Amino acid sequence: MTAVHVTAPAKINLHLGVGPLREDGYHDLTTVFESVALHDDLTAEPADDISLVIHGEGAHDLPTDRRNLAVLAATELAAYTGTRAGARLTLTKRIPVAGGLAGGSTDAAAALIACNRLWNTGLTTGELDKLAAALGSDVPFCLHGGTALGTGRGEQLTPVLTTGRRHWVIAIADTELSTPVVYREVDRLRAAGHGHYHDDPAPLLAALRVNDTDAIARHLHNDMQHAALSLRPQLTDTLEAGLAHGALAALVSGSGPTCVFLARTEEHATTLAERLRASGTARAVHTGSGPAGADLT
Ligand code: C5P
Repeated sequence: MTAVHVTAPAKINLHLGVGPLREDGYHDLTTVFESVALHDDLTAEPADDISLVIHGEGAHDLPTDRRNLAVLAATELAAYTGTRAGARLTLTKRIPVAGGLAGGSTDAAAALIACNRLWNTGLTTGELDKLAAALGSDVPFCLHGGTALGTGRGEQLTPVLTTGRRHWVIAIADTELSTPVVYREVDRLRAAGHGHYHDDPAPLLAALRVNDTDAIARHLHNDMQHAALSLRPQLTDTLEAGLAHGALAALVSGSGPTCVFLARTEEHATTLAERLRASGTARAVHTGSGPAGADLT
């Protein structure tokens, strides 16, 4: 085996219901994930030890040791399987860091898949799922991609029946948000009587089943949006610009600060992205359809 290449797509949450804080420090979630065609690329080559080189978006700010989830994933896989092989990982990033798109989690999932292939360690999907869940709540979804319902802390997955594709516009902010900080803000706002747990994604799931774009637009929802906007009020301008320029719906992705917009067609997404770029309310604007093909498993 000379080199293994894996595509690592970003995720967005079409529904994100946040339950009360649990004793283990996590929140129970009811969420609908969708992978989108904005992706990092990861290559694993044979080596004596595990190393990482990063190019692209945020490359200079990211650690390349075990604090990087991709290196940690490879290290955990090696420990679990007992392999003495190493891997030289090369990551080309397009997904913004701390953006609410699971960039770090998808890199970790890609590293698990790439090293499992490179090392011929033959772990089953179930074993990879367990390693993934220990690395982070979003990593199991990132292993599989597609469209899925997540419960527990987001790691318990059920595939969602969907038809067709959805056309997203993804607006990258010029700021970052730390996921735990946004969860704490959700708790703070709840304690002050603002916001409650939207735990029923059934109307969205029904709309996804038949790909009814207008109904999907009506039922997109994020319990963390209020908290993300409380911490970064300027995101309201981005959301409003998207709606003013014809988006069917606008919402913050996960814990933010990335904002996503639903378009009717690929052409509509391209036009909307151009207008959003011109509005000057985002650092960068991408288009990406979903669910993205995940070549992760
Ligand atoms: O699982 P992960 O390491 O990605 O989570 C990062 C942090 O986000 C957790 O330490 C926790 O503070 C918060 N979190 C949460 N509830 C979840 C997922 C994450 O409170 N379901």
